[in-house]
Amino acid sequence: MEHATTLDSKYWDRRYREGNTGWDIGSVSPPLKEYILTLSNKDINILIPGAGNCYEAAFLWDQGFKNITILDFASSLIQKLRNKWQHHMGVRLLSQDFFEHEGCYDLILEQTFFCAISPEKRPEYVRKMFELLAPGGTLTGVMFNVDFEQEGPPFGGHIQEYQSHFTSYFPDVLFAPCHHSILPRQGREVLITARKNSRHHL
Ligand SMILES: C[S@@+](CC[C@H](N)C(=O)[O-])C[C@H]1O[C@@H](n2cnc3c(N)ncnc32)[C@H](O)[C@@H]1O
Repeated sequence: MEHATTLDSKYWDRRYREGNTGWDIGSVSPPLKEYILTLSNKDINILIPGAGNCYEAAFLWDQGFKNITILDFASSLIQKLRNKWQHHMGVRLLSQDFFEHEGCYDLILEQTFFCAISPEKRPEYVRKMFELLAPGGTLTGVMFNVDFEQEGPPFGGHIQEYQSHFTSYFPDVLFAPCHHSILPRQGREVLITARKNSRHHL
């Protein structure tokens, strides 16, 4: 289904400029915080696409990770963030469309980015994630497991549909219950873990 609103960088930029950012929880996403705390290798190369105000990046930095790429295409947001991040060696701040980004990452963190793109682009999202991961690399994140009454973003969905998109690239993709969601999202989110099998090529 085509969507009436064009979800381009201008659209997202306007939402930041107008302060219309209901998705922003103001701190690191609790499920991602729990996940990050399980990671022991601080040298891994991490991408956060559609990073918004970068709470996950700040938490990673505080935990000692120093190979972090923050990517978002809302230019006024990125401009604002430049001041904050300019002295953080090892943190890259990119103002770019995710679908045009090239790179190779050990870990990609998903937090309300998948739900922000049009559902018809989901196959493209999955293919791009696969491309951006190093062999053995992992996409981990939080996804809604619910339908929303209003036209998105956010666009909702369910595990079965997600599975149909992911399995051709990530045959072992896992969707697990999310135990640390913020209160309004409790029971409405799942944790995705999609590992790029080093033997799997498309
Ligand atoms: C719903 S917000 C989530 C922001 C942040 N992850 C959070 O949870 O606060 C979606 C973000 O994705 C960005 N975005 C949407 N489509 C994008 C694209 N194709 N390339 C890069 N960024 C994109 C928007 O600018 C916005 O910051």
